[in-house]
Amino acid sequence: MKQHLTVVTHPLVQHKLTLMREKTTSTAVFRQLLREISQLLAYEVTYELDMTDRRIETPLQEMDAPVLAGRKLALVSILRAGNGLLDGMLELIPSARVGFVGLYRDEETLKPVQYYFKVPDYLGERMVIVVDPMLATGNSSAAAVDLLKQAGARNIRFLCLLAAPEGVARMKDAHPDVPIVTAALDERLNEKGYILPGLGDAGDRMYGTK
Ligand code: URA
Repeated sequence: MKQHLTVVTHPLVQHKLTLMREKTTSTAVFRQLLREISQLLAYEVTYELDMTDRRIETPLQEMDAPVLAGRKLALVSILRAGNGLLDGMLELIPSARVGFVGLYRDEETLKPVQYYFKVPDYLGERMVIVVDPMLATGNSSAAAVDLLKQAGARNIRFLCLLAAPEGVARMKDAHPDVPIVTAALDERLNEKGYILPGLGDAGDRMYGTK
């Protein structure tokens, strides 16, 4: 991908995102919309998967037909909200390998601290797509990508639903080699680190917590 940031402006993505932003949207509908939108975003973020040809036989004749090449891609969810994007993507790409990164924010240093890290093997030979619905400060995203690079990942993309300019700048600074795909670039962060206008806390909205 040439650009660092791709905003997916497809009408279906934008319509579903508007429904997700509305505060009256129920948990069940929010979750369903996230599932649907994740599949549309998956289409964009996987555009450059390597292809090869395989000799096949149709009922009428033989042909060289395109198939995915190389190792299965790896989807890496940043817990917990990343799982909402992950679920829909796995329906579309059922053979993908899956990893999880758990980070919490140290209240004194405000830095992300790792509490869980489990990723597929051969990371360096896979396209690795990191998923987290909200790219806010970018601190946890940058830290997750740091950990994945330490584990050998080289071909990484970052997929989110909403991005704040602050988060995009942070990622560009820390990981200029990692393209970001999002459904929208919002205005800014508020003093608590929430994206404005945003959609609230993605994890709370998808799991019905407060
Ligand atoms: N995480 C969220 O869930 N929402 C925001 O607005 C920012 C970070």
